Amino acid sequence: MKPKMHLAFDLSKTHLEGRWRSPESWMGYTYPDPGQFEDIARIAERGCMDMLFFGDGTGVASTYGGSQDEAAKWGVGWPRHDMSPYIVGMSRVTKNIGFGLTYSSTFMHPFYVARLLNSLDHVTKGRIAFNVVASTRRSDAANYGFDELMEHDLRYERMEEFIKVCKGLWDSVEPDAFKWDRASGIVADPAKVHALHHVGKFFRVRGPLNTVPSPQRHPVLVQAGGSPRGIQASANFADVIFASANSFQAMAKHRAALDEALTLEKRDPAKVGMLFAVSVLVEETEHEAKARREAVLNILPRDAVASYLSDNCGYDFSKLPARFSPSELNIIIAATNASPVGFVHKLAREIGEGTEITPDEFFEHGRKMVTDYERTYAGTPSQMADVLEEAFEVGGSRGGFMFASAPTTPHDHIQVVDLLIPELRRRGRFRTEYEGKTLKENLAL
Ligand SMILES: Cc1cc2nc3c(=O)[nH]c(=O)nc-3n(C[C@H](O)[C@H](O)[C@H](O)COP(=O)(O)O)c2cc1C
Repeated sequence: MKPKMHLAFDLSKTHLEGRWRSPESWMGYTYPDPGQFEDIARIAERGCMDMLFFGDGTGVASTYGGSQDEAAKWGVGWPRHDMSPYIVGMSRVTKNIGFGLTYSSTFMHPFYVARLLNSLDHVTKGRIAFNVVASTRRSDAANYGFDELMEHDLRYERMEEFIKVCKGLWDSVEPDAFKWDRASGIVADPAKVHALHHVGKFFRVRGPLNTVPSPQRHPVLVQAGGSPRGIQASANFADVIFASANSFQAMAKHRAALDEALTLEKRDPAKVGMLFAVSVLVEETEHEAKARREAVLNILPRDAVASYLSDNCGYDFSKLPARFSPSELNIIIAATNASPVGFVHKLAREIGEGTEITPDEFFEHGRKMVTDYERTYAGTPSQMADVLEEAFEVGGSRGGFMFASAPTTPHDHIQVVDLLIPELRRRGRFRTEYEGKTLKENLAL
């Protein structure tokens, strides 16, 4: 039997960076109407998909030209709501699909997050995943009292301690502690309720968690670090790893780096799946799909592209000289503690270390990155299934894919469920019904 894929939708950007205005996108709803998300949840569950993922950021981009105006005007990375109440709504209209929620271990406190996720795991009956991020953007950091980004690797040290505290809290009450015995009046057995007494470099938490253990006890832990230290943190605690790669070669490389890090952590790489973010445009004809891919490039003006890139890379691209080398620029970016493996790093590799380009050329590459043009595959269901099967094998046949950056919501989600998934099923690559009740069971963790 061929290994099966796991499939998710990334709904972080359905309304962002111009996608809301694609023809037929967000019809009948205006963000942040929860109805749009509930519709997608029903569609995804019809296809037996594993999970809906919600990425997050909490700042409004203000690096480009030192101003937030372009971001505010064009909807770059904003508006963005906390998705936890939305997940509650989606969980009430579905039974099986899981929900991945993002919080920052650099800005949040583990007690609050552990408690919130425990409650969400109850409300959704065991369908919560936690995507923990270190946060690389200064606009986010500024809202939590930081003038500068915390040192890159230190953010990951804090993340590991953050997760250790969360796990300790989730385990602080034993699963059978609660009695709710009407006759005696006993609520819980005190011998099964344990303080944590955590004292670490970043956190002091006495515990226990003042809640009832949840169906999954620990939500599914997800991490998406791409740097060597980020991958090390994934290997340290993540159940599932998210990754983004714009070539099969980059996919294989990330898988190999993760496997090595997992082995160092004494974990079995065969048991840890990666979900690679890809964008697919599936239409009945190749011509139609390819035309839609080209149209994606026209959705954003240059100032919006520049605002997005400046925020994500932590560098004001309004100040670029007439010619420059992206590889040299990336050294400056990494020195400010933004991610060393972001867009400029990838571009430098693509065009060759030391190659010089102009700002116009830079923004044309940037446009392809912001719109996800480069990692968008467009074609018929059979062509897209071919691409996914090949990529699945390159990525080690463990995990699967997260469909990201759909230009048209919910059209592209419907196409995946009604055209691509049936083709993957015909090839024995995707489930026809959910195997379990909780997200962990369905992800086979
Ligand atoms: C699929 C995917 C989803 C991500 N989601 C978020 C997110 O919601 N919020 C965020 O701040 N960063 C997000 N990131 C960024 C990563 O957490 C990480 O910071 C990035 O890959 C750079 O790696 P590094 O931190 O190891 O340098 C995401 C990355 C990927 C590949």
